[in-house]
Amino acid sequence: MLRIGVLVSGRGSNLQAIIDTIKSGKLNASIEVVISDNPKAYALERCKKHKIDYQIIEMKNSPSRKYFEEKIVGILKSKNVELVVLAGFMRILSSYFLKNFPYRVINIHPSLIPAFQGLHAQRQALDFGAKFTGCTVHLVDESVDGGPVIIQAVVPVLPEDTEDTLAQRILRWEHKILPQAIQWFSEERVIIEGRKAFIKDARYGELPVNPALEIF
Ligand code: GRF
Repeated sequence: MLRIGVLVSGRGSNLQAIIDTIKSGKLNASIEVVISDNPKAYALERCKKHKIDYQIIEMKNSPSRKYFEEKIVGILKSKNVELVVLAGFMRILSSYFLKNFPYRVINIHPSLIPAFQGLHAQRQALDFGAKFTGCTVHLVDESVDGGPVIIQAVVPVLPEDTEDTLAQRILRWEHKILPQAIQWFSEERVIIEGRKAFIKDARYGELPVNPALEIF
């Protein structure tokens, strides 16, 4: 059973997908703690409902980013967390944080990186006129949404899309690829070679998700 810590800032629909996939028996992981930098995050309601331990660490109450990150690292270490999952966490983590969890911090981003990194990825895709976008689970390094890619899903952009309809279409796939990526860590099948990540014995080459989903 992989011990995970989930960092959130908002709605928490990806957190919910992790909770649901664990409950269904398809994801062999346990959420040891959820940490939010936002006391109003709806994700915290989900924690209450499912009796998941959570903590609020606000940047505005921290004298420095180092202090803020030290508090989060301290909580994660005290829970013996083996994988840190950023699920809508709206802050960039420093090398201090990442050194504490080498190759063990992942993020979900709503585009096919390296396209449309940073904020408002769905709006960026619409404004650009892209015909496909998608979502990515990647390892976190010090770049913004730029670490080694673990899994991506391709999603079409329709002429009538708004930011919201596109975000919803992408989200349905986020809710599959994030639990799937966590399951691969749980199975110890994630292999890092330089800036590339591979999944041992995964099926590569199909659409719309590469490598192919196994647990859905
Ligand atoms: C998702 O679109 C995720 O890709 C991005 O932030 C959003 C978080 O949504 N990083 P939620 O809080 O999981 O509902």
